[in-house]
Amino acid sequence: MRRAKIIGCGSYLPEGVMTNDDLARIIDTSNEWIEQRTGIKARHIAGKKETTSDMATRAARRALEKAGLEGKDIDAIFLATTTPDQTFPATAVTVQDNLGMGDKGFAFDIQAVCSGFIYALATADNFVKSGQINRALVIGAERFSSLLDWTDRTTCVLFGDGAGAVILEADDAAKGTKKDRGILSTHLHSEGAHRGQLYVDGGPATTQTTGHVRMNGREVFRHAVTRMGEVVVEALKSNDLEGKDIQWLVPHQANKRIIDATAQKLGLPPERVVITVEQHGNTSAASIPLALCTAVEDGRIRSGDLILMEAMGGGFTWGAALARW
Ligand code: ACO
Repeated sequence: MRRAKIIGCGSYLPEGVMTNDDLARIIDTSNEWIEQRTGIKARHIAGKKETTSDMATRAARRALEKAGLEGKDIDAIFLATTTPDQTFPATAVTVQDNLGMGDKGFAFDIQAVCSGFIYALATADNFVKSGQINRALVIGAERFSSLLDWTDRTTCVLFGDGAGAVILEADDAAKGTKKDRGILSTHLHSEGAHRGQLYVDGGPATTQTTGHVRMNGREVFRHAVTRMGEVVVEALKSNDLEGKDIQWLVPHQANKRIIDATAQKLGLPPERVVITVEQHGNTSAASIPLALCTAVEDGRIRSGDLILMEAMGGGFTWGAALARW
């Protein structure tokens, strides 16, 4: 059974930190409101000249280091982002160049907003399982602050910047045993009829501007709780597992209340849920790999642990991935 095993992860957060109190100095909001409704206390904001590819490259280098590899050892880069450096070329090719890969392999971006990392992981997993590649670099990187309208308190308090990366490597595993490590299944969904609930009001083919995030927060919240609840059950069922079999839920970090609802659906106690939204805010496609790396680096996630990752974002898009670390 050919599996894509996760052999390294790395993350990067910009130096600049913006607290809720900092926000309250520029818009009509408060630390209490933000923390109570979302769980967010602070977020990192990229420096003026810091690009998505800069952050992605730093996270990728750390992941490569952990795996004991170099750029030239990678066959393909799958980079999930909503905030590319430019409309084209793909940010992934800049990372390929930064890593000194020359013309080794191929690299492209994946756009599924906050579900981007799950979509990228699923794509890379299928390339590995099919035998087309042996090693993949999967990155979620966002300079989401570029898309914010800093006068709109209903959106600008929610997001932050950062990047996370994992390395996948093909491995032959004995199915159904604890040695069967790697990505066990991925589950992707979308429903374009809801694209008007969460979107950016600009783009090359419409306004010829970048635009800003617009959101119907209540509708997004309602759909997020429903869809993420559904997709985690789908992931468990397809592997003949139950919530109690999962060691770690590593959810998309948008809102603590949404995360709590999903954990409750799985019957998971809070101590088995990785939460970084307090300090990172919602970093869109970067949020899952950032949370994953946090829990790997602090020793919570260990070899053999079952990890359930899930996300939902604009589109709507949503999905889950189940992996044995
Ligand atoms: N500070 C202070 N007051 C605010 C703020 C703010 N930053 N933003 C809104 N308010 C006010 C509103 O104006 C409203 O005032 P009113 O009652 O006088 O009209 C009041 O707070 C309540 O507003 P609601 O929008 O009803 O607040 P709600 O409880 O729904 O919380 C929130 C809003 C936090 C955005 C919530 O709907 C949410 O989390 N939605 C999901 C959004 C999300 O996570 N999006 C990320 C992308 S998708 C994803 O990643 C899953």
